[in-house]
Amino acid sequence: MADGYRVYTDLAGWWPLISPPGEYADEAAYLAGVFGAAGIPVRDVLDLGSGGGGVAVHLKDRLALTLVDLSDEMLAVSRQLNPECEHIRGDMRSIRLGRTFDAVLVHDAIDYMTTEDDLRQVIETAFVHCRPGGLAAFVPDHVADAFQPVSGGGGGGSDATGRQASFTEWTWDPDPGDDWIQAEYEFVLRDADASVRVVRETHRLGAFSRATWLRLLSGAGFGAVSAEMAPLGMRGSLFVASRPAADAPAQ
Ligand SMILES: C[S@@+](CC[C@H](N)C(=O)[O-])C[C@H]1O[C@@H](n2cnc3c(N)ncnc32)[C@H](O)[C@@H]1O
Repeated sequence: MADGYRVYTDLAGWWPLISPPGEYADEAAYLAGVFGAAGIPVRDVLDLGSGGGGVAVHLKDRLALTLVDLSDEMLAVSRQLNPECEHIRGDMRSIRLGRTFDAVLVHDAIDYMTTEDDLRQVIETAFVHCRPGGLAAFVPDHVADAFQPVSGGGGGGSDATGRQASFTEWTWDPDPGDDWIQAEYEFVLRDADASVRVVRETHRLGAFSRATWLRLLSGAGFGAVSAEMAPLGMRGSLFVASRPAADAPAQ
């Protein structure tokens, strides 16, 4: 369960050092270009699974963002960074805000959907919050067709109190026949008093095929879909789906 992962709960205060907001600048610029080319004016955007607000911080000057996350602790981190944005606690599978947006963004948090049913629910959430003619952008880190095990790392940020954090990540696929892969993380956390802790955590991350994505997006009612596998400037792949300007009448 994503809401049980320590990095998003009791360790969330370390998130800006583990995943510094500056690292999201390129992806945010790419997404701003996608919204800018949408063919409709995009101003109101719903960000589902907004985490520490690392994408939002680069978009909030040009967009009115509503940020939704499951974790109170991650929302608190994002509120510090993005006090001018509306923050709402909710599950991207089931939240219903009773309003629509020009665009819905589900960045890397979509990785925490590990069954087709969960992914379908998030796509439905995006659809019902998209105004007719609006668009939804999904940025999964892993797509089954293109999955390659990787080892890497990041972080390295430090703050005014002297805290520092970095992480190492290994991804692998225990069973290519299912819809998820596994990521092993090792977080190295150096506190202000110079004490160092190492925390290890295993995450289960979705890796659906391109065909599954296209089928679920079309099944939810989205019209045109563009699918880009790991475009330059993005860490993940990008599915952009448009909600038809006028929905088909019910049969
Ligand atoms: C990798 S972080 C997102 C980082 C974010 N892109 C940023 O800019 O900081 C993943 C986030 O997904 C959230 N999450 C996982 N499952 C969720 C769900 N079902 N509904 C809403 N948020 C969820 C976690 O709480 C976590 O904050």
